[in-house]
Amino acid sequence: GIDVSALRKETGYVTLDQGFVNTASTTSTITYIDGDAGILRYRGYPIEQLAEKSTFLEVSYLLMHDALPTPAQLKDFADKIRVHTLLQEEMRSFFSGFPRDAHPMAVLSSAVTALSTFYQDALDPLDPEQVDISAIRLMAKLPTIAAYAYKKSIGHPLPYPDNSLDYVENFLRMTFGLPTVQYDVDPKVAKILDMLFILHADHEQNCSTSTVRLVGSSQANLFSSVSAGIAALSGPLHGGANAAVLEMLEQIRKDGGDVASFVTRVKNKEKGVKLMGFGHRVYKNYDPRAAIVKKAAQEMLNTLDKPDPLLELAFQLEEIALSDDYFVSRKLYPNVDFYTGLIYKAMNFPTKMFTVLFAIGRLPGWIAQWTEMMNDPASKIGRPRQLYTGFPEREFVPIDKR
Ligand code: ACO
Repeated sequence: GIDVSALRKETGYVTLDQGFVNTASTTSTITYIDGDAGILRYRGYPIEQLAEKSTFLEVSYLLMHDALPTPAQLKDFADKIRVHTLLQEEMRSFFSGFPRDAHPMAVLSSAVTALSTFYQDALDPLDPEQVDISAIRLMAKLPTIAAYAYKKSIGHPLPYPDNSLDYVENFLRMTFGLPTVQYDVDPKVAKILDMLFILHADHEQNCSTSTVRLVGSSQANLFSSVSAGIAALSGPLHGGANAAVLEMLEQIRKDGGDVASFVTRVKNKEKGVKLMGFGHRVYKNYDPRAAIVKKAAQEMLNTLDKPDPLLELAFQLEEIALSDDYFVSRKLYPNVDFYTGLIYKAMNFPTKMFTVLFAIGRLPGWIAQWTEMMNDPASKIGRPRQLYTGFPEREFVPIDKR
């Protein structure tokens, strides 16, 4: 009901594109998506090949440096990250300050912001060397922070990193290990988690990445920008969807497992009832990441002693949705989050940690996008316009006359 042409007369010629459905905010050389064809490539490499043949640190290097590393470059990158996994000792006290039931995404975002209080000598976003060390610090410390957020929530002591382990193994040990019990990382679990991190590593100008860029466009430092990205990722329409999917499946199971009647509620658009893990702003086809995750979920869940009934419910939901006109006509397909939660659950992560895992995976993408923006001579502070729809000029009425 808004008369846009009248508004234009008042504001000059601006484009109204709520949700930035058709507006590119930047050029980028990092990630290519063809949402109609279901194609995703990082720096030109198809996601399927990277998921099968690469590792998370190699993909991180690729995103951040625009080329696959040589063996020497990869070793140097991994070694630099390895020596920065410790948190400053003062930071450990933050974790005791938060309430035990704090959401780990809130803890993660707060702790990442706090990093800028410890590394004040290296915050200049325009100095490539300072950016480089900040990026390494973030990559190294985010898994430590994530593991501590979890340990705090269950009242366990905070372990130190074990730098003889690789990136994902170290994170798993800090998360699930205990000082009193020998903990051996299951290599199969580490491999699948590494692969899931690859799938989440970048996705061009999504909500959290756009947030990282927008905050960074004011020349705020990398820690502050990434912390804001974590906050954006926490919402149920973005990274929080992986936890929401599992909650949805649990609810369907508790209600007797009637998948068809749940789908009817979704189609009737009952308030707050959506098929979580379905639909995507860009993919109007099967999300290529979802296809890879579905296969991994089947593999992972086959290794369990007793099958997870939620996987069966997820399969049923997908089958019904893919042949139902509501979903077909709106081109709603499973997205990356539809099956990830089931894998994380099988790995013993509590639901609240699912989005934290997404954040660890997305970190190299945020860093690469932020750095690309900082190095782009054409980039400017982000400052959208608006179309004002409020009152015309009014005369102020003193309080005793109202
Ligand atoms: N369940 C039911 N209906 C849906 C769903 C869904 N999951 N997603 C979209 N629709 C419907 C909308 O109601 C709308 O219907 P209408 O045309 O009758 O009004 C139509 O499909 C188009 O949807 P929009 O909301 O306009 O699509 P948009 O691009 O704005 O939203 C989003 C994309 C947020 C991902 C949406 O599909 C959604 O909410 N999905 C569920 C949450 C989710 O899984 N998020 C994860 C996204 S991927 C990621 O962050 C990794």
